[in-house]
Amino acid sequence: MPRHFLRDDDLSPAEQREVLRLALDLRESPYARAPLAGPQSVALLFDKPTLRTQTSFSAGVAELGGFPMVVDGRLAQVGERESVADVTRVLERQVSAIVWRTFGQERIEEMAAVAQVPVVNALTDQFHPCQILADLLTVAQHRGGLDALAGQRLAYVGDAANNMGASYLVGGATAGLHVRVAGPEGYLPDDDVVRRAEEIAATTGGSVTVTTDATSAVTGADVVVTDTWVSMGSEASAARRATDLLPYQVTPELMDSAAPDAIFLHCLPAYRGKEVAAEVIDGPRSKVWDEAENRRHVQKAVLTFLLEDR
Ligand code: NVA
Repeated sequence: MPRHFLRDDDLSPAEQREVLRLALDLRESPYARAPLAGPQSVALLFDKPTLRTQTSFSAGVAELGGFPMVVDGRLAQVGERESVADVTRVLERQVSAIVWRTFGQERIEEMAAVAQVPVVNALTDQFHPCQILADLLTVAQHRGGLDALAGQRLAYVGDAANNMGASYLVGGATAGLHVRVAGPEGYLPDDDVVRRAEEIAATTGGSVTVTTDATSAVTGADVVVTDTWVSMGSEASAARRATDLLPYQVTPELMDSAAPDAIFLHCLPAYRGKEVAAEVIDGPRSKVWDEAENRRHVQKAVLTFLLEDR
């Protein structure tokens, strides 16, 4: 059976490190590996909007010697026009891997259960594991390399119940980070996710803190991150979210309580004046463009890891 990457903990701490190491190599030498030479195709299937994911996977697949086949989820209508299993059986006859951005995690689990080719999660409602790898690479890039990753203090402030909150907890713990997440009541991560992150942190030397106090989460942090308050699919509650989450905006004052050399990250798209002040995301501590570029490098590493493992 092929290996899949559906959640952050599908990579062990050692495997996550191997993928990040490979991503660093690929950043130096973009054409050094060609697991898709042929070219073999990779299906990039999107049930939700995309910019970074479509372009970084497309460019990355091409750099690996393959052909990126973008499939519009509005046309494919997975689970409506035909079942997830039937879509999977058709796609795997055409391509060497399937990358899917969709809604519930159970949809991608269902695909992976039948797929004969690797399946990669390009964001679900529950997790965004490729993004966390890109963030870890960016932290390594700006804070002393891969060996300095474990022990970094990362504070995520805002909608801590969303996919990014969960992936920071699980993926950050895997890297041995001290992950602190802060949001108001009603926007805190699921107990299952927190328990899983704690379990991993106990093996990596990392730690997990969940709080409603943004300042205490950010105090002394090396990395401060946030995300949109309105994730794709939760647009109906945008007005309520804007009110509930306003005290969790990443402002210059909040950044002042972080470590003096702290960096700021955001997976984008960003809404200035909502989750982050313009001075922060457009200021010198912001590394968001490196972070966006790093999507390509880590995703190439993930595909290489999964395809070669197979
Ligand atoms: N939490 C956001 C991440 C966007 C990349 C969303 O799901 O829309």
